[in-house]
Amino acid sequence: MGIILEVKNLTKKFGGLTAVNDFSFEIKRGEFIGLIGPNGAGKTTVFNLISGFEKTNSGTIYFDGIDITRMRPYKIVNLGIARTFQLVRSFKFLNLLDNIIVPSLSKRGRKSSKEIGTDEYASSILASVGLVDKARIPPVILPHGDLRKLQIGKAIASNPQLLLLDEPFSGLSHEEQKVINDLIIELYEDGVTIFITGHVLRELMNLVPRVLAMHQGKLIADGPPREVANNKIVLEAYLGRGDEFA
Ligand SMILES: Nc1ncnc2c1ncn2[C@@H]1O[C@H](COP(=O)(O)OP(=O)(O)O)[C@@H](O)[C@H]1O
Ligand SMILES: [Mg+2]
Repeated sequence: MGIILEVKNLTKKFGGLTAVNDFSFEIKRGEFIGLIGPNGAGKTTVFNLISGFEKTNSGTIYFDGIDITRMRPYKIVNLGIARTFQLVRSFKFLNLLDNIIVPSLSKRGRKSSKEIGTDEYASSILASVGLVDKARIPPVILPHGDLRKLQIGKAIASNPQLLLLDEPFSGLSHEEQKVINDLIIELYEDGVTIFITGHVLRELMNLVPRVLAMHQGKLIADGPPREVANNKIVLEAYLGRGDEFA
């Protein structure tokens, strides 16, 4: 399996704070990999850097062998990276169908369907995330779990090769978590490479075969979840923070 994402010595500073500190890792095509760390560890910033929402101070990011380090977000989407946001975002005044149609008009989204920007294509995506019954409803009146499904639908409408999911389980009930969990597994089985964050290792324990752990911007462990859960440095990183761990 080839390398789909290569991150080399990534550093991002906000004033005096180093949010991401000399961070390096690789993801193979078809992998299912997690990124954990206590709140403030730098997980979202790593995603913001990969997706072009933040500019790095130093280091490089290669996607499929292409240097994307300073690329604009829309170009990165067109190459095949989609992301969801920890704080749910959607087009509030468009119904769910139109929320899906917008990203389906991206370059890769168009390639994935002959029925460009059609209701049929958007409906099939809404169906795959379990929201087809609500196609004509605006997102403002949806429960939180449905908004997370919509986020994932919007991300897959652009036909990504690599999907970045930022804390997709946070704020959800157990039942809602299960639905999202199954949806993510389906995408993985369809061949999408998945990189997923969580601040509670338990959420990712039975989901991903490999997890990266970060603390204060640094990579502190990389391995199977059960191994990482017993890593001394990881345990110390969580100690005294009041964060739930396992
Ligand atoms: N835009 C920003 N401006 C200033 N500080 C930021 C910004 N984004 C993140 N940070 C800081 O960077 C650190 C890492 O944040 P973040 O990447 O959101 O962590 P995580 O997602 O692991 O909780 C935190 O200390 C946070 O306050
Ligand atoms: Mg975060």
